[in-house]
Amino acid sequence: MRIIRSPAAMQRQALAWRRDGVRVGLVPTMGCLHAGHMSLVRRARQAVGPRGVVVVSIYVNPTQFAPHEDFRRYPRDAARDCRACREGGVDVVFRPSDPAMYAGGRARGHSTYVAEERLSRTMEGASRPMHFRGVTTVVAKLFNLVLPELAVFGAKDFQQAAIVRRMTRDLNFPVKVVVVPTVREPDGLALSSRNAYLEPAMRTRARALWQAIAKARAGVRARPAPGAAALKRHLTRFIERQPGARVDYLEFFDPATLEPRRRVRAGTRFALAVFLGRTRLIDNARL
Ligand code: PAJ
Repeated sequence: MRIIRSPAAMQRQALAWRRDGVRVGLVPTMGCLHAGHMSLVRRARQAVGPRGVVVVSIYVNPTQFAPHEDFRRYPRDAARDCRACREGGVDVVFRPSDPAMYAGGRARGHSTYVAEERLSRTMEGASRPMHFRGVTTVVAKLFNLVLPELAVFGAKDFQQAAIVRRMTRDLNFPVKVVVVPTVREPDGLALSSRNAYLEPAMRTRARALWQAIAKARAGVRARPAPGAAALKRHLTRFIERQPGARVDYLEFFDPATLEPRRRVRAGTRFALAVFLGRTRLIDNARL
């Protein structure tokens, strides 16, 4: 396994692969890798085959964090991540530094951003205003540096995957966007790098997210179909019964357009963001 640090070296390698007809699959991550990330790696390998190459990028992207968010304390463990990649059969880890990725920082001249303007308005986009602009910008840069034929994302971040897919289509990137199901703990909690922030009591309370999903699923089976507003009130009360839990948003929406739905039925997607103390967790599922 090779570790590439410089964007220029990454792009030179990608151009050589392209010239030689090597198939390339990309898994973009911010590191602190867990079994959810590794399921993306397996999907990439399956797509490119044993003679193709799987590239995992590890980069905590500053432009997708607001100044008050957890960019500085986001968990970083490069040695452990590289070990996981080696064991997972990854061919190349691309691990750029901030100055290399953003031309010495905003002050030194990086001034171009990629922004999706429709699917980004709701949910994570409403709660974290510049977040998706940072995501689409860094993913566009990664596409240009790694030149993959496919890139794999997790349904854990459903809105992110939808926005990346839209950007890819709108800007004609020759990249196939593949989305894989969410990997969960035995009690239903979605694996997330941010779970590392939870102390034991909060970790137990974090089960409320998956329990809320189960309740929303049960709600769909009720007749007549329940209204989204009433179900949201009910689920908010349920979650906030946990000490230290605060609902940021709950949304029922159309999985294709991400438009909110007023009536909840089978096929509706449900997403939620919940603060447990200072830790903000998100999850979603098809109902
Ligand atoms: P990160 O949070 O590290 O996630 C990297 C990828 O892993 C994303 O596509 C995410 O949806 C997926 N993932 C995370 N937890 C998962 C789980 N439990 N099951 C399945 N997949 C899971 O998302 C980002 O990084 C960044 O925004 C990034 C796309 C890398 C751009 O900076």
